[in-house]
Amino acid sequence: MKESIIALSLMTALLGAPCALAQHEKLAAPNHKADALVYAELARAPDKATAKRNPMEKDPDAVAAGQNLFKQHCSECHGNAGYGTEKAPSLRAEEVQSATPGAIFWVLTNGVVRRGMPVWSKLPEPQRWQIVSFIKSLGAVPKTPDKKRD
Ligand code: HEC
Repeated sequence: MKESIIALSLMTALLGAPCALAQHEKLAAPNHKADALVYAELARAPDKATAKRNPMEKDPDAVAAGQNLFKQHCSECHGNAGYGTEKAPSLRAEEVQSATPGAIFWVLTNGVVRRGMPVWSKLPEPQRWQIVSFIKSLGAVPKTPDKKRD
């Protein structure tokens, strides 16, 4: 009797676990939970950094090179096409798209570590600028949810 109760509760536990997991996945929001402070760091870039021009601006290969680097280093959190995931916000938001290349470069260089955005100062500067070129090439999308996410 005792054994069968143990076996039964063991079975329920074993069967219950995957169910709970699937439910959790379903409940997880596809989008990063942005709060009032998200993107605030871009506005905190010092004037000198904000005013810096992108030296790769006229390089026709910069966007493609930046896209490759983005796939390697950023898409895991921001999604391949920059729409954001549950880990990180969209980079197609107006706040990012209207920021100067210099401000984006500054955020990459310094990160927003306390909020989960890593520091990228170890990437060579030209590569950081290529990534900036790629981000800028994306353009802004309206804030309303878009079904075609990446
Ligand atoms: C480990 C996950 C992760 C990776 C990898 C990552 N980011 Fe982020 N990123 C974040 C998070 C989280 C935020 C939101 C920070 C906040 O709330 O201020 C963010 C914010 C940003 C912002 C907006 C700045 C702001 O004020 O919030 C930019 C621009 C950005 N990331 C670019 C990049 C680029 C480019 C790469 C690749 C070189 C990258 N990120 C890689 C997690 C990540």
